[in-house]
Amino acid sequence: MALRIGDVAPDFEQDSSEGKISFHQWLGSSWGVLFSHPADFTPVCTTELGYTAKLKGEFDKRNVKVLALSVDTVESHKGWIPDINETQGVTVNFPILADGDRKVSTVYDMIHPNASASATVRSVFFIDPNKKVRATLTYPASTGRNFDEILRGIDSLQLTDSNSVATPVNWKKGDEVIIVPSLTDPEVLKQKFPQGWRAVKPYLRYTKV
Ligand code: BEZ
Repeated sequence: MALRIGDVAPDFEQDSSEGKISFHQWLGSSWGVLFSHPADFTPVCTTELGYTAKLKGEFDKRNVKVLALSVDTVESHKGWIPDINETQGVTVNFPILADGDRKVSTVYDMIHPNASASATVRSVFFIDPNKKVRATLTYPASTGRNFDEILRGIDSLQLTDSNSVATPVNWKKGDEVIIVPSLTDPEVLKQKFPQGWRAVKPYLRYTKV
């Protein structure tokens, strides 16, 4: 069955371009973004992995480790990485899992047979420091993902974990947020949001955090 929000992200041991990875141990106390791509030496994947390398500083700031995956071999990954570096102007700075035996892609349900019998789709798993799946994305091979959106998702998850707020449509870090509707006690509201809020409707209250 597909993994759902709130499930524990399955642990695994698998080879990668940077050696064997024991997933939970490798994550340690970090957040994780595990993402699959269909194949090495393909154009869209080359741009995705290059852009991810450029975002390393942003992922680090948010205490996020990034891990890519395809069903290609370590040798294939190591042959492809110089192409990514050359064409995208980066140095790939995160491991790429070599899931030739499909151990990880099977348990994470990254192969969708109606799309391709053998290649992984573009899956993304957002994993928190408790190893829980917090969000997922799935795109087809033809559609490169927006990795700025992945960062935005992390920002929202991290912010909403520690405040009684949710993030509205197209929210970006620094924008107003929404006070969760379940919070109605005036004393608690004043204590949690001393900066105040603006109520557009009783259930639609904006504030800054
Ligand atoms: C790509 O990454 O460019 C790609 C991979 C598989 C199918 C189509 C595009």
